[in-house]
Amino acid sequence: MCGIVAIVGKSPVAPLIVDALKRLEYRGYDSAGVATVEHGKLGRRRAEGKLVNLDRRLKDEPLGGTIGIGHTRWATHGVPNETNAHPHFSDGVAIVHNGIIENFAELRDELRRDGYEFTSQTDTEVVAHLVARELAQGAAPVDAAHNALKRLQGAFALAIMFSDDEDLIVGARNGPPLAVGHGEGEMFLGSDAIALAPFTNSITYLEDGDWVVVRSNAMQIFDMDGNKVERRRQQSLSTSFMVDKGNRRHFMEKEIHEQPEVIGHTLAHYLDFTKGAARPFDLPFDFASLDRIAISACGTAYLAGLIGKYWFERYARLPVDIDVASEFRYREIPISKQSAAFFVSQSGETADTLASLRYCRKAGVPIGAIVNVRESTIARESDIVLPTLAGPEIGVASTKAFTCQLSVLAALAVRAASARGTISPDQERAMVRSLSEVPRFATQALKLEGQIEQVSRELSHYRHVLYLGRDTNYPLAMEGALKLKEISYIHAEGYAAGELKHGPIALIDEQMPVIVIAPHDRIFEKTVSNMQEVAARGGKIILITDRKGAANATVKTLETIILPDVPEFVAPIVYALPIQMLAYYTAVFMGTDVDQPRNLAKSVTVE
Ligand code: AGP
Repeated sequence: MCGIVAIVGKSPVAPLIVDALKRLEYRGYDSAGVATVEHGKLGRRRAEGKLVNLDRRLKDEPLGGTIGIGHTRWATHGVPNETNAHPHFSDGVAIVHNGIIENFAELRDELRRDGYEFTSQTDTEVVAHLVARELAQGAAPVDAAHNALKRLQGAFALAIMFSDDEDLIVGARNGPPLAVGHGEGEMFLGSDAIALAPFTNSITYLEDGDWVVVRSNAMQIFDMDGNKVERRRQQSLSTSFMVDKGNRRHFMEKEIHEQPEVIGHTLAHYLDFTKGAARPFDLPFDFASLDRIAISACGTAYLAGLIGKYWFERYARLPVDIDVASEFRYREIPISKQSAAFFVSQSGETADTLASLRYCRKAGVPIGAIVNVRESTIARESDIVLPTLAGPEIGVASTKAFTCQLSVLAALAVRAASARGTISPDQERAMVRSLSEVPRFATQALKLEGQIEQVSRELSHYRHVLYLGRDTNYPLAMEGALKLKEISYIHAEGYAAGELKHGPIALIDEQMPVIVIAPHDRIFEKTVSNMQEVAARGGKIILITDRKGAANATVKTLETIILPDVPEFVAPIVYALPIQMLAYYTAVFMGTDVDQPRNLAKSVTVE
């Protein structure tokens, strides 16, 4: 999603802004731009596509000035071209924006009637004209910005700069995040602390409805009524080493390989391996007295939640209501007073997930946030933060965050089962032992990389792929399909293996590879029957299983990928790795932009 950087500085800011924007690249974008003020004049460079194009523009036509705003744009209104790229100008006003101005059409008509001409198809340009109209009517810059902000409906983070004041940027937040960075004689605004990490670790996060006047030596935050408000200044944990790929080709590859380590860290945070028990940290509810839990999330995080549902229900006998957040937030779901709600999110900023959280907040139930970014909005608005210790995830396709989300959910399921007395102390010890072995299993799974690379070469020749699984392998099949389509652009679907004959079997022919995720578990034989149905129709099966599964599959496969024997409880965490590698190498063979696939954003701050 769009990224914002603004600096009121003391040295030329254009290169610094582009550098900071590079740290926001992971969010996904399709054009970029920067504007500065020098000697009372606005200057701007914009470019379609990657930041390297903007860099080139700036090299040919450098921009001076010690104050500036920059933007990476993920298109919502208008195609991704240079004209629609931010910053947008209007009579001495420059604006960058993340989000959606919902009443832009109405404001545009009003401004057109007043003679303002629109040069772009964006919703953002109305904000520039609104501020400019206020200035033209005699308002001072800060008042002009405040008056314009009061007219806006929707979700936005904004930075506004004025040609007449080279020591002023106004920022605003209503939805997408915006942070103020405090420097020595210079101040910053950024979409997140990672962008600002090279400049400062001293951060103040704006809250919804806040707007801020930023000058080189000071800043003041206000609410929409113009009252001064105080927000906590904190030390961010973000540091500049975060954007390093190491010796890997892509962040995604690096992040896949980090999993044994980060899963281990995450599990150790929640489980006492020595005692063989879930750690008894404080929770704002007692699992024993809950009648159900609600989980909501988007995309991969939702699929992690869905696997969590299987665990909570099977081991803790605790019913789970789960829905994708974009449905959850509007469906008027009844929330039991005896429940707790969990929101799963890597970024902690996903707009739909945040809205679902606020819905549950109104229902008055305790809220847990399973997040990777601890300083995120979802973390801040929850009663308890249950961190995934995956470290920064830069690749747009989520990998290590997913397996760490699963690790947290698995540990919570153990804790819930123990609290509710649905497992014995011996069973709890066995489950904790199984989890403690996951980093080792994951390391073994990574050793299959060579074989998976070869299979992926074959997969890259197809246009459609089907993934099948039963039980927890069903959400994993959906995750495999999601991963493949988002980075290789090959159409893929994940199905419950038992559903095959209710429709998707019509798709099976020689042109349809079918990836079956089937460790040798309680229901393995059922999945074998489904594989036979596929094989009988010429479908090409790629089976991901264990030794026993491979020996008992009784069906011809194009390839069988054999994972270590793992306890059923932890299988989805371990089986996630070959799924991710398949998608990764297929995308590499397809030659796509693996870390920043087209049209996708890492942090989805609009609904
Ligand atoms: C994962 O590969 C996706 N890019 C996407 O589905 C993601 O999981 C989803 O947008 C949710 O993001 P979040 O975890 O930051 O809330």
